Amino acid sequence: MSLIHEIDYGTPRSKAEKEVTLTVDGMSVTVPEGTSIMRAAMEAGTQIPKLCATDMVDAFGSCRLCLVEIEGRAGTPASCTTPVAAGMVVHTQTDRLKKIRKGVMELYISDHPLDCLTCSANGDCELQDMAGAVGLRDVRYGYDGERHPNPGLDESNPYFTYDPSKCIACSRCVRACEEVQGTFALTIASRGFASVVSAGMEEPFLNSECVSCGACVQACPTATLNEKSVIEIGTPEHSVVTTCAYCGVGCAFKAEMRGEEVVRMVPYKGGKANRGHSCVKGRFAWGYATHKERILKPMIREKITDPWREVSWDEAFAYAASEFKRIQAKYGKNSVGGITSSRCTNEETFLVQKLIRAGFGNNNVDTCARVCHSPTGYGLSQTYGTSAGTQDFDSVEHTDVVMIIGANPTDGHPVFASRLKKRLRQGAKLIVVDPRRTDIVRSPHVEAAHHLPLLPGTNVAVLTALAHVIVTEGLVNEAFVRERCDWDEFQEWAAFVSEMRNSPEEVAKISGVPAETIRQAARLYATGGNAAIYYGLGVTEHSQGSTTVMAIANLAMATGNIGRPGVGVNPLRGQNNVQGACDMGSFPHELSGYRHISGDATRELFEELWGVHLEKEPGLRIPNMLDAAVDGTFKGIYIQGEDILQSDPDTHHVAAGLAAMECVIVQDLFLNETANYAHVFFPGSTFLEKDGTFTNAERRIQRVRKVMQPKNGYADWEITLLFAKALGYELHYDHPSQIMDEIARLTPTFAGVSYEKLDELGSVQWPCNEKAPEGTPIMHIGGFVRGKGRFMLTEYIPTDERTGPRFPLLLTTGRILSQYNVGAQTRRTENVAWHAEDRLEIHPHDAEQRGVRDGDWVRIQSRAGETTLRALITERLAPGVVYTTFHHPTTQANVVTTDYSDWATNCPEYKVTAVQIAPSNGPSEWQAQYDEMARRSRRIVPLEAAE
Ligand code: SF4
Ligand code: SF4
Ligand code: SF4
Ligand code: FES
Repeated sequence: MSLIHEIDYGTPRSKAEKEVTLTVDGMSVTVPEGTSIMRAAMEAGTQIPKLCATDMVDAFGSCRLCLVEIEGRAGTPASCTTPVAAGMVVHTQTDRLKKIRKGVMELYISDHPLDCLTCSANGDCELQDMAGAVGLRDVRYGYDGERHPNPGLDESNPYFTYDPSKCIACSRCVRACEEVQGTFALTIASRGFASVVSAGMEEPFLNSECVSCGACVQACPTATLNEKSVIEIGTPEHSVVTTCAYCGVGCAFKAEMRGEEVVRMVPYKGGKANRGHSCVKGRFAWGYATHKERILKPMIREKITDPWREVSWDEAFAYAASEFKRIQAKYGKNSVGGITSSRCTNEETFLVQKLIRAGFGNNNVDTCARVCHSPTGYGLSQTYGTSAGTQDFDSVEHTDVVMIIGANPTDGHPVFASRLKKRLRQGAKLIVVDPRRTDIVRSPHVEAAHHLPLLPGTNVAVLTALAHVIVTEGLVNEAFVRERCDWDEFQEWAAFVSEMRNSPEEVAKISGVPAETIRQAARLYATGGNAAIYYGLGVTEHSQGSTTVMAIANLAMATGNIGRPGVGVNPLRGQNNVQGACDMGSFPHELSGYRHISGDATRELFEELWGVHLEKEPGLRIPNMLDAAVDGTFKGIYIQGEDILQSDPDTHHVAAGLAAMECVIVQDLFLNETANYAHVFFPGSTFLEKDGTFTNAERRIQRVRKVMQPKNGYADWEITLLFAKALGYELHYDHPSQIMDEIARLTPTFAGVSYEKLDELGSVQWPCNEKAPEGTPIMHIGGFVRGKGRFMLTEYIPTDERTGPRFPLLLTTGRILSQYNVGAQTRRTENVAWHAEDRLEIHPHDAEQRGVRDGDWVRIQSRAGETTLRALITERLAPGVVYTTFHHPTTQANVVTTDYSDWATNCPEYKVTAVQIAPSNGPSEWQAQYDEMARRSRRIVPLEAAE
């Protein structure tokens, strides 16, 4: 294995269709119009020396190293800023050019500390390379002259350092922060020789606007911006392409290694989801994989009040299997079930649901999508016929109007947000429908045309009002609807949305959004060109989550914004493989590819291959499993990579359900909160320790590649196999590729997927089959998967969760960039530098009424429970609405969320909880009790002591 070197073409690829042919050093080369001479030369295999150019940002033309001569033109233009022309004859290596380049390099080197041998970038430095490339052997001016300003080493960022003494003022970092990341955190202060890169208002990086995405570090040609891990460990010696295990964007990375140690994760330009960009989590926050709290040995205990006892893997499997067999013998076949993990691979998820259906003999399988995007699956399959988003991320480059509903992409899906912001800076218009003024509403050079700050729980009303305007003002794309949708259903829908009660004026009264804002937003969406909707959990996690998804689907159909680049309906999926977990048949009613378990033909296909009988009736969903546990009929659960105690609503109910079970098996990296109620702990493996695939929000299936041996002994798929074997249900796979082959055999939308194809193409988007052998970037082109698009009536039914004198405020929840989900991984990284605790955001008016000051402890109370946390006073929210994140178990935000859920899918209504806030002295009694219980529950008797 060696290091993967991706070619740096110096300038971005031109997207022009017209091609031109020129000659570079006697070689004919044909490239798209608008390509720089530098890039054309690179494509012909000629490397022109360069310093300020890199293909992740536009050319700048400041270093003057890349000069060329062009026949018939005077002077020596910079090849990075000069576009090609037909018939052009270019020379890249003449005596005159050599002399100029040497002179330029002499100036750079005379101002550079010559500590190459001990520099962290030694061997990985473009300045060094260019000195060699131009044949610099001496510096006439010596090295003792005046130096450019050096404000001093900045080590404030946990992951990278800034050493201005090494800066060559090429501004690649500044441009990367602007053009790629869109944060505009960096500037070049002063001019000429005094130029110096500065974060924010000449602040330390950590205090500036910097979000630690790493784009500047990647762009920097010297050691000025350098990863601390490289400084500590040394330069990497081999690399492996794999996929980020955090969010549903699915960024591809090169894991750059020394032996089995990760030196750094470098975003892979070949990754079609991220195109070489990253966020702080995937780029830097992998330290949890070797965190001291990671559990590496299996453990068991008879009672949850006992300390854990480390045991051998054999003993753990034997104990777990005997308990499950005992429970099934005593309480019946349906008394056990399992939860698949959206953090694990497709193959691992498929195996767990197979074990449950075929090994346990019931359909009691569910997944965390129950609590996030299950309404997406339902709503989109009802209207369009597939349970997934319609576009690829590239589609945003063709969008004219973006409507974001209930999503916070700069925090939740940061790399997609950067691509989106780039399009907005190019002129696309933005509509944001969100109770909170999220960062995307106004950020550098981006400002939403309309922000609809609706009251939590009124999505359906507002979306139906948008439809009202579109229909009543004659903005429907009738030709599209007539051709692609059921016309009768459309007419029924059009009549419904046109009713006065659905008008913006009426809806303004319940949503708090001014009628005129709704009208203007609707007009823009319907008439602004290609319009795309991106949405998140602010849509789904409501009692009308599925209805909201259908309302979104209706809008796109009515305006013809479906079935081509730049448009569509796009759920932004939370966890790295939540799309995959759903695709793989993790829901109790569906086999892989979203086929209902009651379908005889589908079931027979599986029964034949698996050699077992499958139950026809859907099994229990997570909330039903917990209810059944409290009722005494559900006794055992196998939970792979999911922390339901912290992530699911109404913590007290989850705890009661878990505590009522006789055997809870948790498979995870850490003793998570759910494990406080577990009897068996199977230590899990990280994404660095296994092979497999993840499927991102665009339906893109990408390889996860093992870069080190599992520290716990087994990859998660192997643990499931061995548990199955102990239960007497033998499964035979030597490698996850064989599991994927089985998935492909059983799942029409995956029929063409294989590891060979993924290795060859890099990734594919399902459906991938005979009709689409290389996958399907955009769905519903020419027709909907279900045939005719189906308009659904979206009657607004207010949630039963109402504010009143006791609970006058509405709580809504969300997440933050640096943390991920329940925080089990990110809390065990340096990311805590940005978010060490969950805070309660509250409007100054509400805070003042309650005597709450910024940073004060407050008690938040709902009818489900109460917890305490510190207040953050902000005008991001309207009065009457409060907000918090749920990344920290000490806060346990879900103690206050209720058991209301989506009518169709049981997805919990996290986004609307009526609460009261009051000043508090510190953590509540319950929090103190819980902390003590968690501490006691984490006592471990080591294997050696037990022997
Ligand atoms: S890490 Fe990202 S956000 Fe921070 S300065 Fe660099 S490019 Fe900008
Ligand atoms: S910090 Fe690096 S990328 Fe930025 S100007 Fe200096 S040398 Fe160039
Ligand atoms: S967390 Fe998401 S956006 Fe960040 S690097 Fe990973 S996949 Fe990309
Ligand atoms: S690389 Fe062209 S001017 Fe610097």
